[in-house]
Amino acid sequence: MIPVAEPEITEQDIFLVNEALKSGWISSAGKYLDLFEEKWSAYCGMPYGIAVSNGSVALDVAIELLDLQAGDEVIMPSFTIISPAQSVVRAGGVPVLVDSDPATWQMDVTQLESKVTSRTKAILVVHIYGHPAEMDTVLDVARKFNLTVVEDAAEAHGAEYKGRKCGGLGDISTFSFYANKLITTGEGGMVLVRSPEMAERARSLRNLCFQKKQRFLHDELGYNFRLTNPQAAMGVSQIKRIETIVDRKRNIAASYNELLAGVEGISLPKEELWAKNVFWVYGIVLDEKTGIDAADLSEMLRNRGIETRPFFLGMHLQPVFQKMGLFRDECYPVAEFLGRQGLYIPSGLTITERQILQVADSIKDCLP
Ligand SMILES: Cc1ncc(COP(=O)(O)O)c(C=O)c1O
Repeated sequence: MIPVAEPEITEQDIFLVNEALKSGWISSAGKYLDLFEEKWSAYCGMPYGIAVSNGSVALDVAIELLDLQAGDEVIMPSFTIISPAQSVVRAGGVPVLVDSDPATWQMDVTQLESKVTSRTKAILVVHIYGHPAEMDTVLDVARKFNLTVVEDAAEAHGAEYKGRKCGGLGDISTFSFYANKLITTGEGGMVLVRSPEMAERARSLRNLCFQKKQRFLHDELGYNFRLTNPQAAMGVSQIKRIETIVDRKRNIAASYNELLAGVEGISLPKEELWAKNVFWVYGIVLDEKTGIDAADLSEMLRNRGIETRPFFLGMHLQPVFQKMGLFRDECYPVAEFLGRQGLYIPSGLTITERQILQVADSIKDCLP
């Protein structure tokens, strides 16, 4: 089976993780944690980084920083993973969904302003599959209505909008360092913020809201969302080669672009003129005229030894939210189309040119 993604662990990663283990700092204090936070926030152009245990809890912290009151609204795309939506719902807020742009698969920002109400507190952007969302419009609408901008940049390590890094464009941003991400710590995440007050609060939330002066006196309920020093050591090691990793992902995408160019019945990932796409995954979307959907193609490719993953299923279609009475009768046609017709193909860092060729040939074979 050609896997859809596979992490690349180098000798340097192993060396630094061993260093962390040998130092005895194996929990959530240690020099690699500080270094990881410093290096990642500097790379993204944000002043403060708070490392946490994964990208989902990074979003929990980010949303908690918004201090939502029950019923406050956060605008976000329907086409995304559940993590950002569940963070908002758990915090008592209401996700207000926006459909996607059919070309870039990102949130359709032309619909943003019409979604703002007196209850809107924030716009949560998700940079999907490695391509940035169109941020100028997001920032303009946020400025006009005094909204906070949260970027979920879990899938966009190193991606750029007009030359600036994703995760360095809004007020708060979050990352995942899960094994399939460009930079991985096994499990891991980070929250980046601009204000020192938010940084302090996020650090406190991450660590059970222990107080500096009187440790076991609590003003607020926190969490144990801590990352460990050996995990951070792996992150530090990986950041050293981020440019190589980004180049590799872009080269894999360039190979697929070349091999699949002009193939009838599929659309390939875009890269807008203002964007640097890091192609976290390489997605393809099947034309409905082919008469097959993503599940059909996935099954055919599986039979040829090729693993794929379906695209996201829109948040408005999730039974868990429907049971809560959310998104009743809402319809986001582009998100639904992408969920039905989109899938992504193997593009992990360890894939070979031969495997890429095999995947591309198999796709051509499978198309009617
Ligand atoms: C856009 C997005 N946000 C959040 C997450 C959650 O990250 P984690 O799996 O580290 O909890 C993911 C995971 O893939 C993601 O793709």
